[in-house]
Amino acid sequence: MPAVSAHAPGKTILCGEHAVVYGQPAIAIPVTQVQARAVVVANPRGSANQIRITAPDIHLDDFLENLPESHPIRQLLTNLQNSLQLPHFPAFDLRVTSTIPIAGGMGSGAAVSVAIVRAVSTFLGRPMTNEQVSSLAFEVEKSYHGTPSGIDNTVITYAHPIFFIRGQPFESLHVCQPLTFLIANSGIKSETAAVVSDVRQAWQNDPHRYEALFHAIGTLTVQVRRRLERGPTEEIGGFLTANHQLLQELGVSCTQLDKLVDAALSAGAQGAKLTGAGRGGNILALVNEENIAAVSTALRNAGATNLYLTNLMPATSEVEK
Ligand code: MEV
Repeated sequence: MPAVSAHAPGKTILCGEHAVVYGQPAIAIPVTQVQARAVVVANPRGSANQIRITAPDIHLDDFLENLPESHPIRQLLTNLQNSLQLPHFPAFDLRVTSTIPIAGGMGSGAAVSVAIVRAVSTFLGRPMTNEQVSSLAFEVEKSYHGTPSGIDNTVITYAHPIFFIRGQPFESLHVCQPLTFLIANSGIKSETAAVVSDVRQAWQNDPHRYEALFHAIGTLTVQVRRRLERGPTEEIGGFLTANHQLLQELGVSCTQLDKLVDAALSAGAQGAKLTGAGRGGNILALVNEENIAAVSTALRNAGATNLYLTNLMPATSEVEK
């Protein structure tokens, strides 16, 4: 049997992170320049449930049964087996690789889960729908991130810009004009679960103040959506920068992220903000042909370790549900 492979992109959040955990809307877009990939190869001589997993990025080379039950790949495969009601798996080798920075706010964990579910379910002859794939990835997110909104697994599964409200069906976004974003990595690793949990603690200590901030972020996200879909897109940058200021007030920025945002704005970006959980990971900047070179240079000079370019193009086709 030939090898079966599947991949999934990274993601970035355009606006609404953290507030989305509390029921406010957020907008996320896929970043296809980075990918997680899973390859499954049958092992015809192996016994039932003999699954060898290699994942060089996390220095993993072991059999599934040796992984702790709490290991995300073990959890994912157990949930997949239950959901397909399989008494056991046939023997196979699973190789997982990824160019998505780990703990960099680009959804590396969710992308790995999506790629694995797609590759293994296809290998088994029972390919899953996007809805099933996203829901299995979400189960793993929940045990690692505590209270995730579900935005990461959704945008990564559907690989399409989305307007997302927790617990509601997502909406596909179609932009009215091409837009270009530069994503700059701060080089600082950040655990989403820890930042989300700190925000929860702060909200519990001062619900009035935090709910006002979440609401302000939600209002601004609706404004961004309107301008993405109908224009004028020139106004989007200001909203993104305002979102960064609200994220600072939430306490999820840090000196290096602020430095990168300031560098992008000083070099001419129309708007800039941290993206994802914060305290590290990435910022994104809205750029155009005239300023992209200057903004890239400014970001590198300010310490960005990696730059990724992602475009939003007016779409013509609907997303498969
Ligand atoms: C992480 O990519 C986005 C957060 O809003 C957490 C979540 O939505 O699950 C910080």
